[in-house]
Amino acid sequence: MSIGPRLQSKVAIVTGGASGIGAETARLFAAHGATVVLCDVQDDLGHAVAREITDAGGIAEYFRHDVTSEDQWIARAAATEAKYGKINILGNIAGISGRPAGMTVQTGATAGAKLLDQTLENWNHIMEVNATGVFLGTKSVIPAMQRAGGGSIINISSICGIVGSFANAAYHASKGAVRIFSKSAAIQYAADQVRVNSVHPGFVDTPMARPGLIGNESGKARMDATPMGRFGKPIDIANGCLFLASDESSWMTGAELVIDGGMTAN
Ligand SMILES: NC(=O)c1ccc[n+]([C@@H]2O[C@H](COP(=O)([O-])OP(=O)(O)OC[C@H]3O[C@@H](n4cnc5c(N)ncnc54)[C@H](O)[C@@H]3O)[C@@H](O)[C@H]2O)c1
Repeated sequence: MSIGPRLQSKVAIVTGGASGIGAETARLFAAHGATVVLCDVQDDLGHAVAREITDAGGIAEYFRHDVTSEDQWIARAAATEAKYGKINILGNIAGISGRPAGMTVQTGATAGAKLLDQTLENWNHIMEVNATGVFLGTKSVIPAMQRAGGGSIINISSICGIVGSFANAAYHASKGAVRIFSKSAAIQYAADQVRVNSVHPGFVDTPMARPGLIGNESGKARMDATPMGRFGKPIDIANGCLFLASDESSWMTGAELVIDGGMTAN
């Protein structure tokens, strides 16, 4: 049995589309027939991903878009709907670890500042990108999705949004906020067929996570905690996003999709 394109004629906005999980999700959505609007703040990489998609015969555009700016969200949602007629899918994938530049990951298994060393400025920045960015994105596309008769919003949380650890409390808090925000948004707009689900990756080899995964004690601890014996690849997460974006998940909202090689089952 062959499975045809699963997002034919759908219009998707994907944040964090320049790198890692967001870039892979944009590629996969486009390969399944979606028109993809990539948003990020890394312009060269973002344009390169969009070009790669169009060179392969897909439809994609890249825009510089800081997810913490409500004005930019309002403008992006309006421009997307005006150009393509609708918005069916939003992948809120942009995020930061918040690990201060230059900080090593080599303090036990920590991936950021310990609580007493975490500044208010660092806390606010992490919350602004990871949690407020998801709120603003969700708020901005819902009216277009209502006009389109429904839609799917996929919010990338983390296993850090489900369990705590020795690492970066602000990152955990921001991802926990994404998890519970998604459930509230799901309930509020379920009657409009606007679905909101969260995705919870384990340790995935991307530019953000690599310093804590490869060649150090922290990486070894994380590998030991991953029953399947390997770190995730961006495509592992993109495949989950594809399912949530597609009509195959049309009765699924407010749910948590954990993709972590078995880590949190332990
Ligand atoms: N890699 C992992 O192990 C892992 C695990 C759990 C969750 N996540 C989450 O997955 C998502 C993607 O991360 P990744 O691992 O692919 O990292 P990544 O660094 O490769 O990609 C994140 C992207 O977000 C963009 N971004 C950051 N701030 C932005 C802003 N203000 N506006 C717009 N774009 C912005 C970055 O420029 C980057 O391109 C993040 O939300 C991250 O927290 C990652």
